[in-house]
Amino acid sequence: MSFKILGTGSCLPQRVVSNEELSEFLDTSDEWITQRVGITERRVCTTETTTDIAVGAAKGALEMSGTTPDELDMILCATVSADHAAPSLACSVQAMLGATCPAMDINAACSGFIYMLEAAAGFFAIGYKRILVIGAERLTRVVDWTDRSTAVIFADGAGAMVLGPGKSYISSKLVAKGGDTVLSIPSFEGQSPFYKNKSLKPYVHMNGQEVFKFAVNAMCTDLADVIEAAGLTIEDIAWIVPHQANARIIDAAVRKFNIQPERCLKNIETTGNTSAASVAILADELCRSGKLKDGDYIAMAAFGAGLTSAACVIRWEE
Ligand code: COA
Repeated sequence: MSFKILGTGSCLPQRVVSNEELSEFLDTSDEWITQRVGITERRVCTTETTTDIAVGAAKGALEMSGTTPDELDMILCATVSADHAAPSLACSVQAMLGATCPAMDINAACSGFIYMLEAAAGFFAIGYKRILVIGAERLTRVVDWTDRSTAVIFADGAGAMVLGPGKSYISSKLVAKGGDTVLSIPSFEGQSPFYKNKSLKPYVHMNGQEVFKFAVNAMCTDLADVIEAAGLTIEDIAWIVPHQANARIIDAAVRKFNIQPERCLKNIETTGNTSAASVAILADELCRSGKLKDGDYIAMAAFGAGLTSAACVIRWEE
């Protein structure tokens, strides 16, 4: 049950929104956001749909891998902010790419991209040959723009990989604690005259401190477990690709593993938290940086609503 990464891609919307710009309509400041979260600016969709940025990322990954859309035999998308509840984001992407393969979405919140890699490994085990996996989010659609504790964190973006048969996916771990009290995005309740429950607004609801505690513990435990399961030690890992939720969560992992900070990658300063897209965007940046060497071990880790968390070790093969 493994695969090889054949290509990566990413796509961010054009519009850059700085902390100063948010401070014009929220009771916040560049100093607070920079110090408490580590973000200075983020990308925000103005005309782009979730499908548009997902397709942008997919095209980059297809090009790098030398794959044409008709060669794909599965498209998987991880998202919590697709343009539609139905059809899936994957089906919208399939149509825009002109592919003909099956397509479906996976929702494990910010852990979704790594959950999706595990699902892809299962498809390879039963004979699939080319799978396009995409993490894409338009979270600015689901944040409450009057809530300073969440509006400053979440952003838009997409990352993708084209996977083929191989032995790069070495070890993995998926976790779900269950529950919706700490972090949730309630669905639009609709207008049924028969439904009597009081509904929450369909925006991000988050207990930041609870998520923070879960995140630090989950990321450190999951990374240690997948590295051990791969028969490796932290010294063997060339690059850690962590979910970009808060720079302080990433710094806590650096301290825990006592590694050089430059090996634990960070782009939150300019991308913000893009949920299921976050690790895929970072992996594409790493891939295109020229820093990756054949045989490098990459450890990815993510966490989010659910509460879910996930980690994996991948060996880079050129
Ligand atoms: N600007 C200025 N002040 C803000 C603010 C903002 N954007 N957001 C919150 N505050 C205020 C709070 O109101 C509070 O004020 P008070 O002391 O007067 O009550 C103060 O800052 C401290 O709030 P607190 O919630 O304790 O801050 P924090 O240090 O825990 O940081 C988060 C808040 C959300 C940044 C932090 O908890 C976090 O990153 N949690 C994890 C979130 C996450 O990873 N979510 C995604 C999971 S995928």
